[in-house]
Amino acid sequence: MVSFSRIALAAAAITGAAALPTNATDTEGLGLLVGRAGTPSSEGNHGGYFYSWWTDNAAQATYTNLNGGQYSLSWSGNNGNLVGGKGWNPGTASRNINYSGTYQPNGNSYLAIYGWTRNPLIEYYVVESYGSYNPSSAAQKKGTVNCNGANYDILETTRTNQPSIDGTKTFQQFWSVRNPKKQPGGQISGSVNFSCHVTAWRNVGMNLGSSHYYQIVATEGYKSSGSATITVS
Ligand SMILES: *[C@@H]1O[C@H](CO)[C@@H](O)[C@H](O)[C@H]1NC(C)=O
Ligand SMILES: *[C@@H]1O[C@H](CO)[C@@H](O)[C@H](O)[C@H]1NC(C)=O
Ligand SMILES: *[C@@H]1O[C@H](CO)[C@@H](O)[C@H](O)[C@H]1NC(C)=O
Repeated sequence: MVSFSRIALAAAAITGAAALPTNATDTEGLGLLVGRAGTPSSEGNHGGYFYSWWTDNAAQATYTNLNGGQYSLSWSGNNGNLVGGKGWNPGTASRNINYSGTYQPNGNSYLAIYGWTRNPLIEYYVVESYGSYNPSSAAQKKGTVNCNGANYDILETTRTNQPSIDGTKTFQQFWSVRNPKKQPGGQISGSVNFSCHVTAWRNVGMNLGSSHYYQIVATEGYKSSGSATITVS
């Protein structure tokens, strides 16, 4: 979902400023916009965890780092794309990840373990809950797996010449999508044994890279509104 909007932004940058938000400035020529309402994109360490917050600045979005592994996010405007959360940098292929809090999307949104590897470059999601849009519908199904007592669909997509943590690249996206999803709309919590997913992915030929970048419990919104307060441990 991040990448869909990044494509749209790149297209906007190419075709002219008309599609850009009124106060946006394309500072880097790749759709990285600044100067818009809300919390500017950033990443770093907070409360003993790594956090990453990215917004294309098209929504009104507020991301707040709270104590320890907690963060909150609210967004509105039914426009643009944003993703943020707390976790670790580097990620690992073996971490047991817990999350709890509230997740209240209105429209297209995910609550997911989200991260990247390099060598090769892979963007991955373990989607625990989502709003109106099931990401499985846009990816090729490779299998299923039972982890932490729940069923997940395993999917893969190729991203061709798309923005990434290393600039514009061609890379794979790996997905586990909980089926059925955890119900959004209020309290939510869970545990994700990430190595269960990594093993299942490997068994269908989906191998993560050897070098992990960040690994967070992310809330993502795409042309939607909503709020989340999540504690990661
Ligand atoms: C653009 O920025 C100015 C100055 O900060 C503000 O007054 C105005 O409301 C903004 N316009 C939009 C459409 O966000
Ligand atoms: C996590 O999953 C792996 C691989 O399926 C399994 O070997 C391990 O026992 C699991 N760990 C926990 C804590 O459930
Ligand atoms: C994660 O949750 C499991 C199951 O509730 C618990 O056994 C474990 O101690 C928790 N780990 C952390 C780091 O919070």
